Amino acid sequence: MRALDLDERTRRERLLAPAAAVADACRKCAIGYERRHNVYGEGDPLAALMVIGEGPGETEDMLGRPFVGRAGQLLEKMLGAIGLAREDVYICNTVKCRPTSPGPRGPRNRAPEPDEMANCRPFLDEQIDVVAPGVILALGAPAAKSFLGRDFQITKMRGRWYAGPNGVPLIASFHPAYILRQTGGEIEAVKRLVWRDLKAVRAKLDEVAALRAAPLRADKMPEPPPEPLQTGLFGEAPGTVC
Ligand code: URA
Repeated sequence: MRALDLDERTRRERLLAPAAAVADACRKCAIGYERRHNVYGEGDPLAALMVIGEGPGETEDMLGRPFVGRAGQLLEKMLGAIGLAREDVYICNTVKCRPTSPGPRGPRNRAPEPDEMANCRPFLDEQIDVVAPGVILALGAPAAKSFLGRDFQITKMRGRWYAGPNGVPLIASFHPAYILRQTGGEIEAVKRLVWRDLKAVRAKLDEVAALRAAPLRADKMPEPPPEPLQTGLFGEAPGTVC
């Protein structure tokens, strides 16, 4: 890693750590009193890809880390399919506390309420500002709606590019927990769509990387050779091309 990246990583970590502490102290919503851990987010602060889920589930609440349960395991496989390790990306959620409703066998996971997402939004916006990803992948309808409005329909509108916060290209796909809930013939159909979305993410990441590298490449253009230089078409010495 270049020294420049190290300095920048440290700078971003120093911005995220106090922000995580503020989120941890937040009690704006009732779920702030009910959760075990605040699940702020984790990953590479220099990541080109930010993955944004709905909210922590039971395992995440227990461990204080995003996407570490069954859905997280599937997410890791999905990322692996496009050549990314979990550590390469930044992972967080629209809300940092586990949204629960009471159930007969203890609290059940539920989708975050709009006011909970609104209360938590400054934390998410700060993460997006600091990490400044090149691409955002929103997983599931609640995450997609939080950026694209409540009329967003995941089945019809996933897999397309939208201008996300700060103009960052944003795409929505099915949530891994939704994929895990599918049965029978539905599984293959949903997997095919998700694979299409993941390939779109890979292509966009490559496009963004090429754009970011372009000025550097221009800087690194080799000096023109001194005149006269008698080389062949691809730089071979004269006479070596048959
Ligand atoms: N589902 C989410 O949306 N986020 C997590 O962190 C875990 C499961």
